Amino acid sequence: MGAAASAVRPGKARLWCRDADFAGASHNFRYTDSQMLLNLTILPGDGIGPEVTEQAVLVLQTIAEAFSHQLQLQKKNIGGAALTAANDPLPPDTIQACLSSSAVLMGAVGSPAFDHYPNHLRPEAGLLRLRRELGAFANLRPAVSFPALEDTSPLRTEVVRGTNILIVRELLGGLYFGQPRSIEGAPGSRVAINTMSYGESEIERIARVAFDLARKRRKKVLSVDKANVLECSRLWREVVTRVGKDYPDVKLAHQYVDSAAMLLVQRPTDFDVVLTENMFGDILSDQAGGVVGSLGLLASASIGGVIGLYEPVHGSAPDIAGKGIANPLGAILSAAMLLRHSFGLESEALCIENAVSSSLDEGYRTADLASAKNPAISTSAMGQRVAETVRVSRSLPQ
Ligand code: IPM
Ligand code: MN
Repeated sequence: MGAAASAVRPGKARLWCRDADFAGASHNFRYTDSQMLLNLTILPGDGIGPEVTEQAVLVLQTIAEAFSHQLQLQKKNIGGAALTAANDPLPPDTIQACLSSSAVLMGAVGSPAFDHYPNHLRPEAGLLRLRRELGAFANLRPAVSFPALEDTSPLRTEVVRGTNILIVRELLGGLYFGQPRSIEGAPGSRVAINTMSYGESEIERIARVAFDLARKRRKKVLSVDKANVLECSRLWREVVTRVGKDYPDVKLAHQYVDSAAMLLVQRPTDFDVVLTENMFGDILSDQAGGVVGSLGLLASASIGGVIGLYEPVHGSAPDIAGKGIANPLGAILSAAMLLRHSFGLESEALCIENAVSSSLDEGYRTADLASAKNPAISTSAMGQRVAETVRVSRSLPQ
């Protein structure tokens, strides 16, 4: 970061004005001197969610100080934590808080304690309802190979080097939400039903997100489907092809999901933007995490609705929860996406991303990334490392 850019702006008269330049901006207010009120709802959730979220919040506090923004946080329950407290995986006061803030940062949901509960009383149901309440139909999941982690990937260094993929996953349709859904019948002869359903407008809006983002990248969209078997995918391919005509500068290709899964490990650097439906995107994004060295690194933004929702891709990982060994970088990078997509704060987002990258360059590793050469540090030590790097880059006292 250049010296000129690093001078902290002094406090000035705080005149508010609306800034409608970016998606989901209706709740955002910008100081005229570019200081902002970062009014966030934090949903730590289950498993490793609270530990990684704590580190993301630490980094956000550091950014707020370094760039003279005002951070306002309210913490609410979701998932198993909310089921325990209120017998509801998404209590009304959580929805209310999310809707009255400018962006939402979530940890993770899911706990084996609720495995035997009916679907609507599972932790995951809370997250799915929240995505729907917020209208967050576009789930952006970047998977980038950090130079320092090339030898952490299970793939050969020369295969993974330079990987920079953006998965654009449709988030409010498909098997996750399709009706009817049920398990019915007598024990021993029960039948389970889920429905995959997509409307043209649902496909079109997510396709436009993918093409628009591709324009700011390497101008390639790979649309992933199963059009040789599924009607949903045939409609998907048709609509994506039609939308693609509005983007003649973007190269569009189609791939069946099975083949895309193979190519993702064989030639990950060929991928730029991957556009796909809800379930395929869920699966391929975990695979992309494996490709770049650890799922713990992956961040996500769920946007397109009234309020953006930001969460690491990794999930609650109950087996390692509470041990201080989880990787907070996915959560920290989700905070960067929050600043970029909900507030238009590109320099602040880049400052976090650079701090993560240089912490890795310096050899800091959590357990999922550690090796004999670079032994593991704890979740909180990694968070502090990134926060300190932010401070140094902005010339703040330690
Ligand atoms: C994810 C998660 C969620 C999903 C679960 C927790 C509902 O796996 O965000 O990838 O399937 O979308
Ligand atoms: Mn998933």
